[in-house]
Amino acid sequence: MEEWTLNQFQGDVLRVPSAVLFLIAVAKDKSMTDEQLLDLARAAAARAYAPYSNFNVGCAIESVEGEVVTGANMENACYRLGICAEQSALTAAQHAYGLDKVARIAVVGGSGDMVCTPCGGCRQAILEAGQLAGRDIEILCGSGDGSKVERHRVGELIPFGFGPANLDGSRPR
Ligand code: THU
Repeated sequence: MEEWTLNQFQGDVLRVPSAVLFLIAVAKDKSMTDEQLLDLARAAAARAYAPYSNFNVGCAIESVEGEVVTGANMENACYRLGICAEQSALTAAQHAYGLDKVARIAVVGGSGDMVCTPCGGCRQAILEAGQLAGRDIEILCGSGDGSKVERHRVGELIPFGFGPANLDGSRPR
């Protein structure tokens, strides 16, 4: 009788952790590894339209639910009308799941070993999403040749930024 109780106890002990492990595995499956997100940004960069600068940039944005959208820079013969990869991907993110659900961003650009960090305008656009989300969004910045990756937070890239939080009563709802 004692042995049976012990076996039953051991069975329960084994069952509970495997259920927990399963839940952890399901939850973890939702978010990609850094390398997977960077790979999607690289694939997006390959589809950029950048005939004037020849500087392809790709961006992949992951939501809190693990949904990923991508974008790339798109230039124009009227140079100043070109749009950056981050803004293109943020537009897709808004349509797919909403800026307030943005969790993580990967940006990859160029062809050398210098990491591509978001330009000032893109930092401002990412700050908008971050303040809506109440989250200091993580940004993985990769070099075009795949040799380097830097990890930043939007609050670090645009400290003391001006965002929707500064607009008090006029904030978007
Ligand atoms: N570019 C981006 O797409 N994102 C950035 O954060 C930096 C710059 C693009 C704009 C332009 O098409 C090309 O890179 C060269 O500046």
